[in-house]
Amino acid sequence: MTSIAIVTGASSGLGAELVRLLVEGAFGPLDEVWAVSRHAARTSPRVRPFALDLTEPASFDALEAALAETPGARVALLVNNAGFGTFGDFADMPAADNADMARLLMLAPVELTYRALPYMAAGSRVLNVASVAAFMPQPGLATYSAAKRFVLDFSRALDAELGDVGIHVTALCPKFMRTGFLDHAGAGDVAARMAGLTGFEDVARVAERALAAARAGRALCIPSPDMRAFYVAAKLLPYPLLLRAERALMGLGAAHGERG
Ligand SMILES: NC(=O)c1ccc[n+]([C@@H]2O[C@H](COP(=O)([O-])OP(=O)(O)OC[C@H]3O[C@@H](n4cnc5c(N)ncnc54)[C@H](OP(=O)(O)O)[C@@H]3O)[C@@H](O)[C@H]2O)c1
Repeated sequence: MTSIAIVTGASSGLGAELVRLLVEGAFGPLDEVWAVSRHAARTSPRVRPFALDLTEPASFDALEAALAETPGARVALLVNNAGFGTFGDFADMPAADNADMARLLMLAPVELTYRALPYMAAGSRVLNVASVAAFMPQPGLATYSAAKRFVLDFSRALDAELGDVGIHVTALCPKFMRTGFLDHAGAGDVAARMAGLTGFEDVARVAERALAAARAGRALCIPSPDMRAFYVAAKLLPYPLLLRAERALMGLGAAHGERG
């Protein structure tokens, strides 16, 4: 048997940290760690790089073929982490950004999970990186926050479905981390205001918490205590009230459709 962990978005930020921990044995013994991203690199002898663009459907075929060609392939862990978020008004955003966010954040985890499942067994895990942006619809981040909500709901439903066969799916919801994510966020003012509201958390700590949650088979991992409180508040309070509070805390005026 060849025990494999697959990590997408492995070239930087949270993904690179997860690969480092996996190579060090934080998820138990693994034969190979497959590092998937456009600029994937071999960072250790056990890391197998796959330089793939996950907005391209052919990339899913390539990974499925690699699994089929690996003798006794067993996917112990699939981490759907690759992502980016563009901030700003939807109408002003480049169309390609919105389409690529939809493909990378929603379609890629669905395709990769589906294709990896035949190579999983009891004890295997899926770790899907969502965000605290999933907790309520976010003006200025409309496509991104909706996509992360999809990841959260998809993960939880799948965890309930697969639990009977001993496969668990964890949705990870970090707040802002100082990674390349913020370099690609555009509309720096919106990102800076939002980051000012939530604060930052440490990438290494998030990675450790995430792997521990996945190992334990927990459906939801919200590493930051204040965001756990926000998660509960977002479930209990009406959206217009939450939106007004968020905008007031960010020092912004009334929002379009705030009464909706
Ligand atoms: N940083 C934050 O504040 C924050 C907060 C909450 C959630 N998140 C989520 O955390 C995850 C990791 O982001 P990060 O913070 O670590 O940011 P990051 O440092 O920018 O890393 C993003 C990773 O995604 C890969 N990627 C981007 N587009 C890709 C594509 N088309 N195909 C394949 N791989 C692609 C990048 O690699 P290549 O460029 O080599 O392709 C990179 O490895 C994302 O899902 C993000 O939404 C981040």
